[in-house]
Amino acid sequence: MSQALDEIKIGGLGASRKRVEDNRFIRGKGNYTDDITLPGMLHMEILRSPLAHARIKSIDASKAWDIPGVHLVLTGEMMATRNLAWMPTLSYDTQAVLATDKVRFQGQEVACVIADDPYIAKDACEAIDVEYEPLPVIVNPEQAVAEGAPVIRDDKDSQRDNVIYDWEVGDAAGTDRAFAQADVISKLKLHYPRSHPSPIECCGSIADFNRATSKLTVYMTSQAPHIIRAAVAMVAELPEHMIRIISPDIGGGFGNKVPVYPGYVCSILASILLERPVKWIEDKSGNLISTGFARDVYLDGEMALRRDGKILGVRIHTDADHGAFFSDAQPSKFKIGLMHSAFAAYDVPAAHLTARGTYSNKAPGGVAYRCSFRVTEAMFFQERMIQAAADDLGMDQAQFRRMNFVRDEDFPHRTPFGFLLDSGQYAKCLDVGLKAIGYEDFRREQEEARKRGRLLGLGISTMTEPLGAGNSREYDILGIKMFDSADLKVHLTGKAILRTGAKSQGQGHETTWAQIVAHELGIPAEDITVEEGDTDTAPFGMGTYASRSTPVAGAAVAMVSRKIRAKARKLAAHLLEVSEEDVEWELGRFYIRSAPDRGVTIQECAMAAYSNMPDGMEPGLENTAYYDPPNLTWPFACYIVTVEVDKETGVWDVLKMVAVDDCGVRINPMIVEGQIMGGLTEAYAMANMQFITFDVDGNCVGSNYMDYLLPSAWETPGFELHSEVVTPCPHHPIGAKGIGECAAVGGPAAFVNAVMDALSGMGVRNIDMPLLPDRVWEAITYRRDVSGAPPVRSDD
Ligand code: CDP
Repeated sequence: MSQALDEIKIGGLGASRKRVEDNRFIRGKGNYTDDITLPGMLHMEILRSPLAHARIKSIDASKAWDIPGVHLVLTGEMMATRNLAWMPTLSYDTQAVLATDKVRFQGQEVACVIADDPYIAKDACEAIDVEYEPLPVIVNPEQAVAEGAPVIRDDKDSQRDNVIYDWEVGDAAGTDRAFAQADVISKLKLHYPRSHPSPIECCGSIADFNRATSKLTVYMTSQAPHIIRAAVAMVAELPEHMIRIISPDIGGGFGNKVPVYPGYVCSILASILLERPVKWIEDKSGNLISTGFARDVYLDGEMALRRDGKILGVRIHTDADHGAFFSDAQPSKFKIGLMHSAFAAYDVPAAHLTARGTYSNKAPGGVAYRCSFRVTEAMFFQERMIQAAADDLGMDQAQFRRMNFVRDEDFPHRTPFGFLLDSGQYAKCLDVGLKAIGYEDFRREQEEARKRGRLLGLGISTMTEPLGAGNSREYDILGIKMFDSADLKVHLTGKAILRTGAKSQGQGHETTWAQIVAHELGIPAEDITVEEGDTDTAPFGMGTYASRSTPVAGAAVAMVSRKIRAKARKLAAHLLEVSEEDVEWELGRFYIRSAPDRGVTIQECAMAAYSNMPDGMEPGLENTAYYDPPNLTWPFACYIVTVEVDKETGVWDVLKMVAVDDCGVRINPMIVEGQIMGGLTEAYAMANMQFITFDVDGNCVGSNYMDYLLPSAWETPGFELHSEVVTPCPHHPIGAKGIGECAAVGGPAAFVNAVMDALSGMGVRNIDMPLLPDRVWEAITYRRDVSGAPPVRSDD
């Protein structure tokens, strides 16, 4: 007789449980870094360079030191005496903490002032006199490799030019053969512009060094607190057990809060020197011009095609502008991240990718903004190229995709770049999307509208994305292998606390992790507290970015629950006085196979673990699991947009957008929908309005929220979401795949493809994002492509 609990009622798998963390967020009771005040706390502000490239002739801080309330002025020279003027980056380069020899981008950190309050510190920064000797400026890869270009990283003995790497992957000879057999060769060249994650909360830290205990506690906005602890231990050579990193509530990360920034390092050193807590809270401009830029890649590719539409091969060349320091926060062994995930969803027999990375006089770039390490650029290029190729062949773009997709029966499928895809229903997702948008009807409407002079367009973007770094074979950070962890303690009354090595920045882990435990153990989700972000209490883990939490930490949560269940089974057998083999499990309860009425609940087992365990059994019901995923998870999505473009102004409006996401088993459907809506909003912003670039002097243009627009509910179009396609991940313990980034990764191409479709027949092959009205108007009026690559006119 089954007495299994109703999974949805206890908030298990598939329950659209309201986010428990919102109880405090919507009441203003969150605990963000800036909410924390410690006794005797001082405040730090940063002086930034106004120039993009200049030699520092002198720094005179005497006036700043004289201002009452100033406790310390840090310069590069002082950092150098402690061997901290430079720090290693996550990409095995070095980055200046405070500039010593030169400044290499506008906004670079030159000095820090620590004072009684932030206003005194800011005034004192302005009193610092820095004499600069301007140097020639580089703002794109072409300038970086030009004859006679100044060497930006002349601090590095081995660096003779501005090239960081030349890298290739794939089969060059096989791809050549494919191109030799092609009936049609389709080409596309574009620039994926810089973009910025712009979380609502900027970066910040409070370093608190206690001389009496020798313990350093740092409250900070880090998506990966354990990695920060490891970096502080390894770089500053402080004992690891004396470092405690606490990431409290975080107001959005999107990759911006993965790297180690100079502000963190300076606040730590200042606290050690002053033996007082030192708080640094970045201002919005500082965040926008100096931290966490993403993208900035030039993509140039071609596709070999058979006349009937079969793709024979693909060649891609990428030129990535990394800015002044190669500090991409990407943990793969591949130089250009996962760029070679391009075309993964298509059955492409041969492919070859070459990638070059260069320095420029721009803030460090390459942060994976809501993206798994260049997957956004890869998917954008893929879907723009697919549309261009279908147009060149004169084929219907939906049909072209369908005939080239990896088919359901072809999994597992090895891509020409070496990834292993394990599952998916790509054609089904496309069909659901086409039906939802009313594909055939729209095509007819579009033709009619054209006759009347109206420009309608439809854009499709289908994407798959490798989510869940690592496995430990191919992914590491500073040599530390990628995996993740969960630690579960079931108290004697059957309530529990779960801690993981991930760190939510708004994704709702406190809600969804408890749902996984509820599903595995039958303990109601509301009886489980979830904690993350404190290195003194959480198990070692690699943090949250690249939608890795569900694929890795989420799997660890399931695995640790199963360990607990295994021990609970022994306790149940003891309580029921039968052998373990005679005990069956149903959600929340063990029972005797031959007498199903006789059973004990998981809560009774928990009590027994502390009060009535069998002889020889270790008391308690606690365990930890570390999970090293066998493969990445591969969600799939199809986004379709229809637009109308006004040819007089270049303004375009979204008529309808549908999204079909297959992320395997959904833990919490409501949270998944929230992730998709947020991602699509960011995709729309990138495609439509987010303008940030550089002029010829390296000035950051669009570096304020009047120009770099964050869409509000007013501008954002409505989205129609579809969840009917579910392909469980075969290797994930609960069949889930990541979802956090999919819409931000796959969305932009749908919008751009739609506008390009509206302009078809006008001889325009590409307009670079953002598709600002003046760019679209220029393309329509002059029937030409429009590049957005820097340097730009400052009035662009
Ligand atoms: O690493 P990150 O948390 O940013 O991304 P994710 O693992 O894709 O998860 C984002 C949120 O969606 C988390 O709260 C997940 O638990 C939830 N999610 C879900 O409910 N079902 C899935 N199949 C994937 C994610």
